[in-house]
Amino acid sequence: MPAILTARNVTKTYDAGRSGQVVAVQDLSLDIEEGEFVCLLGASGCGKSTMLSLFAGFIQPTTGEVALRGTPITGIEPRCGVVFQSYALFPWRTVRGNVEFGLKMQGVGRAARRERGQAFIDLVKLTGFEERYPTELSGGMQQRVTLARILAANPAVLLMDEPFAALDAMTRQVMQEELLRIHATSHKTTVFITHSLDEALILSDRIVVMSPRPGRIKAVIPNPLPRPRHVAMQITPEYMALKSSLWQLVEAEMAHHDETSSPQD
Ligand SMILES: Nc1ncnc2c1ncn2[C@@H]1O[C@H](COP(=O)(O)OP(=O)(O)OP(=O)(O)O)[C@@H](O)[C@H]1O
Ligand SMILES: [Mg+2]
Repeated sequence: MPAILTARNVTKTYDAGRSGQVVAVQDLSLDIEEGEFVCLLGASGCGKSTMLSLFAGFIQPTTGEVALRGTPITGIEPRCGVVFQSYALFPWRTVRGNVEFGLKMQGVGRAARRERGQAFIDLVKLTGFEERYPTELSGGMQQRVTLARILAANPAVLLMDEPFAALDAMTRQVMQEELLRIHATSHKTTVFITHSLDEALILSDRIVVMSPRPGRIKAVIPNPLPRPRHVAMQITPEYMALKSSLWQLVEAEMAHHDETSSPQD
């Protein structure tokens, strides 16, 4: 499988005012394959969002290179669809208006927009809510609108930064099931950030564990959990064993972080 998204020896340093410079990511290399679902896992502040922003082209590496299908990413990358934790919806547009917005920007005509928009509204199970406004929807529904809007634009890569973190546990599971279903049909290459081992295990093909400051790759773990997957798998002994071994790895890294943290951490 060819890599669709690559990071080559990427270092990202931020200017942090009086505290000097922060090396958020250091010499990180990663290949993400076409159709792959990769989860980035790691302690708060380890550089996960920085990596996502680099892939999205929101920021540029200090040294090294990120590339999409071999082309360096040097500015905001329209082939990447980005979903954040908060629902970035236009409050003055309906569900339909929000989902069709990206297509309008791409110059898709009214009839095609309607048809394509509806297909994705149906996909995220919001049929019947087309004319509602975001404030009239629950958090989970709003996040589904966001997902529909991003997917409708047909990005080459889906970049998701803790998209379900603000949701209650039950809604979150429903959203995970939805995403599994969507990924099974679309095979969209996805980079997904989470703090949750369960979320990483249920969703991913590979889990990239990052070490904190400066962010580097601690381990890349192929996820042996068979597909199709369901949230109910999380109570099987095989799953528990898998989670336990992953937990040991992550915990070891966190313990290391505590010992080496400076007081301002
Ligand atoms: N714009 C910025 N200016 C200065 N420092 C920044 C900036 N953005 C991030 N940082 C620093 O870079 C490091 C990595 O931040 P990043 O947001 O990538 O972490 P993260 O892994 O996404 O954390 P979290 O899990 O809390 O979201 C942190 O030390 C953070 O303080
Ligand atoms: Mg983050």
